[in-house]
Amino acid sequence: MKVGVICYSNTGNTLSVAQKVEQALAVAGHTVQIEQVEPVSSEIKPGTPVTLKTAPDPSPYDVVILASPVHAFSLAPVMKLYLSRLPGLANKPVHCFVTQHLKKAWMGGNHAVRQIRAGCKSNGAELLSSGIVNWSSSQRDQQIESIVDRLRAL
Ligand SMILES: Cc1cc2nc3c(=O)[nH]c(=O)nc-3n(C[C@H](O)[C@H](O)[C@H](O)COP(=O)(O)O)c2cc1C
Repeated sequence: MKVGVICYSNTGNTLSVAQKVEQALAVAGHTVQIEQVEPVSSEIKPGTPVTLKTAPDPSPYDVVILASPVHAFSLAPVMKLYLSRLPGLANKPVHCFVTQHLKKAWMGGNHAVRQIRAGCKSNGAELLSSGIVNWSSSQRDQQIESIVDRLRAL
């Protein structure tokens, strides 16, 4: 299958997980491409509207994996904007993972996943699975491994 890992990452954590997913899927025989969603300015200023420099087109992929950090107990505004209008996502199977610094999923991760689910729905796509990496948790490596394992089984 042709798999697109569409990733926003400000400081590299989410991208590092995306790269592990990419490697695992490639070994499993899929054609995988990481595409980054990029804002015009990488400086995060609360209250300042975000504009996108790069908004990858998901339409070439059979399966899309969305990846984003949590910002302010929510989906990062860059990914939220990217998902706000994305016709190429319609009818695609979508999976996602988010990374957050804090140790508990209720500290933003769950909310961010709900926002991704809603974004998929509003673009006519279904979110089939999700994962959360709590970066400061002692369980981080296991969380990453379990996301990679789940996606490897696509
Ligand atoms: C503006 C901002 C807000 C953040 N808010 C949260 C938060 O509400 N909860 C949390 O657990 N982590 C929060 N974080 C931490 C990031 O989610 C975490 O470091 C993430 O892994 C960064 O991913 P990246 O390196 O791919 O950008 C925030 C980071 C930034 C820059």
